[in-house]
Amino acid sequence: MKTRLTEQFGIRHPILCAPMALIAGGRLAAAVSDAGGLGILGGGYAGALGGEPDLEQELALVKGRKFGVGFISWALDRAPQALDGALKHFPYCVFLSFGEPKPFAKKIHDARARLICQVQTLRHAEQAVDAGADAIVAQGTEAGGHGASRSTLPLVPEVADFLTKRAPKTLLLAAGGIADGRGLAAALMLGADGVLAGTRFWASAEALTPQAMMDRAMRATGDDTVRTKAIDALRGVPWPEEFSFRVLKNKLTDQWAHREAEAARARGSLAKAYAEARAKQDLDMYLTVVGEAAGLLHDRPGAASIIESMVQQAESLLKRGGSLDFRTSKAAS
Ligand SMILES: Cc1cc2nc3c(=O)[nH]c(=O)nc-3n(C[C@H](O)[C@H](O)[C@H](O)COP(=O)(O)O)c2cc1C
Repeated sequence: MKTRLTEQFGIRHPILCAPMALIAGGRLAAAVSDAGGLGILGGGYAGALGGEPDLEQELALVKGRKFGVGFISWALDRAPQALDGALKHFPYCVFLSFGEPKPFAKKIHDARARLICQVQTLRHAEQAVDAGADAIVAQGTEAGGHGASRSTLPLVPEVADFLTKRAPKTLLLAAGGIADGRGLAAALMLGADGVLAGTRFWASAEALTPQAMMDRAMRATGDDTVRTKAIDALRGVPWPEEFSFRVLKNKLTDQWAHREAEAARARGSLAKAYAEARAKQDLDMYLTVVGEAAGLLHDRPGAASIIESMVQQAESLLKRGGSLDFRTSKAAS
């Protein structure tokens, strides 16, 4: 499947694996890249919060491959040395999300890495273009993890129109709810050059995902996730106001998800209890982070098999789409 993304990035399939904090380690990134996509390591909070896998160790696992590394921009502001450390490993791209990318753009380009910016609004897309992004990922609210409120279906074509006018060479990827060939085909139809998938690769053999979380997600439907700002407030993680967190519902979210103002007033009050729940893997309190695409997960295959079936299904749907068009126009004549 050829698109501007595959041609410019020199990859076989227009599929990138999201840089999921705590989940997308070197094994997953390597498996995605080996299968013809592009694996992006989850550099997460750049070590600013503690408790994340050692990035150097994970980077060693992708050695010799084309790979990317992703950071949460507002956290990178606090720990900019993490970017220097990552650039020493010559990533093909650096993926920035959730904050102003401009302060890091020159350093990334000077290291001959491409800059990919994930955006949630048109204002973010403008910031990304101003920073000289080589590719923009338009992330809809369906996505797992942090994000905002715009939906993938209208956000992607709106950003596509914006880029056509402002920066036609900048590549566009769609993210949020894309977990199979139907999503890939739809994203291409919306004007994207490719997709970024998180939740689907979260449930892959190579992801660092604990099996108990996987078991919960497999029983879930898309109805069983919730997007909220309350939990970050309670655990005292200083996320900027415009972003919220989509996770699988559990006892903690049942109690707090819809009490955001109250949680903001109780900022940090559950930090210790939450850290303990994480240590014990008490999943009634510690969060399982997946998007609405949880409802499309039925197994935990290898990343290569995920990519192969996404591409096959998308190709066959796009071919069928062509013949449907033909039938429609015949019926109309
Ligand atoms: C477990 C998990 C962790 C994530 N961590 C990050 C992160 O550290 N940085 C980031 O930019 N995006 C992160 N995301 C969001 C992804 O970049 C991406 O937008 C999202 O997974 C796409 O939607 P999907 O989950 O429906 O595929 C995370 C997503 C998940 C599911």
